[in-house]
Amino acid sequence: MKRCPKCNIIDESGEIRFCASCGTELFFLNRFERAGHGGSILALYFSGTGNTKYIAELFSQKMDAACYSIEADVNFSAEIQRHSSIAVCYPIYGSRVPLIMREFIAKHVDDFKGKQLIVFVTQLAFSGDGARVLTDIFPLNHVEVIYAAHFSMPNNISNTFFLRQRSDKSYAKKTRKADRKMDKICRDIKEGKVKKRGFSIFAKLIGKVQGKPWQGDSRNPSATKGTMEYKAKHSVIIGASCNACNICVKCCPMKNFENMQGIITPKDNCTVCYRCINCCPQKAISVWFSQKPQWQYRGIPK
Ligand SMILES: Cc1cc2nc3c(=O)[nH]c(=O)nc-3n(C[C@H](O)[C@H](O)[C@H](O)COP(=O)(O)O)c2cc1C
Ligand code: SF4
Ligand code: SF4
Repeated sequence: MKRCPKCNIIDESGEIRFCASCGTELFFLNRFERAGHGGSILALYFSGTGNTKYIAELFSQKMDAACYSIEADVNFSAEIQRHSSIAVCYPIYGSRVPLIMREFIAKHVDDFKGKQLIVFVTQLAFSGDGARVLTDIFPLNHVEVIYAAHFSMPNNISNTFFLRQRSDKSYAKKTRKADRKMDKICRDIKEGKVKKRGFSIFAKLIGKVQGKPWQGDSRNPSATKGTMEYKAKHSVIIGASCNACNICVKCCPMKNFENMQGIITPKDNCTVCYRCINCCPQKAISVWFSQKPQWQYRGIPK
């Protein structure tokens, strides 16, 4: 069965190439359309500094999918239950799923039962099995992954000497590449093609090397003592240049800051997203590495 993406005309035989009405190329119905769900997709994302938001929204525009940040004030159980396919989008941290996304999935694990998953991971350079590790949080055969992809995006770690700031031109180049990749992915999904980046044995092996020291057991939704993630969770430091503007208090997705009579105090509950460090006007915050930021990542240039 094929469908015209413009006028929605269905060709039962699946043999006609172009729509008789408008001449547009017909696509094979994807799995959720075949199941009669009419392309009901929901995109859910966590994004520390904007890269993953960009990818999730791009997908949502192209596929006409509802799209929410997991930080939004939404009845997520109801939303997940009423959609047949869910695109879960997150940045990769040490080849693993961010703590905030793991906690979200663990909270909604029952709502996800029987869903078709599309997984989009954003990375600086390399994710190993970053899209696959999400499935470790679910019980066996709980969900079916129908597509998984990794997108290389700008780096947001701004307080270590070995990762330097790049030009807007280089960010724009990466973004254009991601745009082209997303076009291809949406075509694939509409045609019912299944591609699962990060699911090979090789990716799994590499992911293990990078992921184990960062998070330990990938099935664990919480941060495990002794891991790099656990140390980073407790690593936020506020320097003397802080002027108590409260920006970090308002923007932190983990509500990790408290203003205690003018003193900003971290509460050891950081998902290491690098949002606060990149938006503090005083460059007063350090996370993970003890250095202050040398520069600040402002997200994808408009
Ligand atoms: C704590 C942390 C760990 C990261 N680990 C990796 C990594 O293992 N591999 C990689 O390619 N990028 C890594 N990155 C880069 C981010 O995944 C990348 O910049 C991502 O697109 C940021 O997305 P966001 O803007 O939606 O937060 C890491 C970033 C952070 C903050
Ligand atoms: S954003 Fe920076 S200056 Fe403002 S309260 Fe937080 S640490 Fe202080
Ligand atoms: S403290 Fe900063 S890095 Fe940690 S979760 Fe909050 S905003 Fe993100």
